Amino acid sequence: MQRTYIMVKPDGVQRGLIGKIITRIEERGLKLVALKMYIIPEDVARAHYGEHEGKPFFKSLLDFITSGPSVSMVVEGKEAIKIMRSTVGSTNPQDASPGTLRGDFSLDMGRNIIHASDSIESANREIGIHFSESEIVSFTRIDEQWIYE
Ligand code: RTP
Ligand code: MG
Repeated sequence: MQRTYIMVKPDGVQRGLIGKIITRIEERGLKLVALKMYIIPEDVARAHYGEHEGKPFFKSLLDFITSGPSVSMVVEGKEAIKIMRSTVGSTNPQDASPGTLRGDFSLDMGRNIIHASDSIESANREIGIHFSESEIVSFTRIDEQWIYE
């Protein structure tokens, strides 16, 4: 099983998309094992998006991601990282396929509603930035035997 870090960005929260996004994750069969809403402080945002420091869009990305409440989650499942990246869709919503979250609910690069970790290393790093180990739960979903063979 893999864990990945997912964030409903401030635009997704403001647009009332938290429920739809969580529903898609749950209905796929992936398991939510941590969940919280908070306004990400600037130092945390800098750590989260550290790989983009120095890029022209870094300042606007930081301003946006800290501009209001966002929802942070840890999602667990077989190949959860790859599955969530494909569920989220391309970074630029104009290239995102219909059926993906970005392809269904967003139009602009800087307002693409959701973040998902892009690798095992990123997932571990990002989960550690936003959650303490005690905030992550361990439980068996009642339908797991019908989701995994
Ligand atoms: P994210 O980290 O937010 O899940 O998005 P991603 O992996 O699909 O894309 P990434 O390359 O990590 O970029 C992070 C966020 O920065 C904004 N961005 N703007 N103007 C630009 O060229 C540009 N490139 C990236 C996007 O909002 C992207 O989600
Ligand atoms: Mg990224």
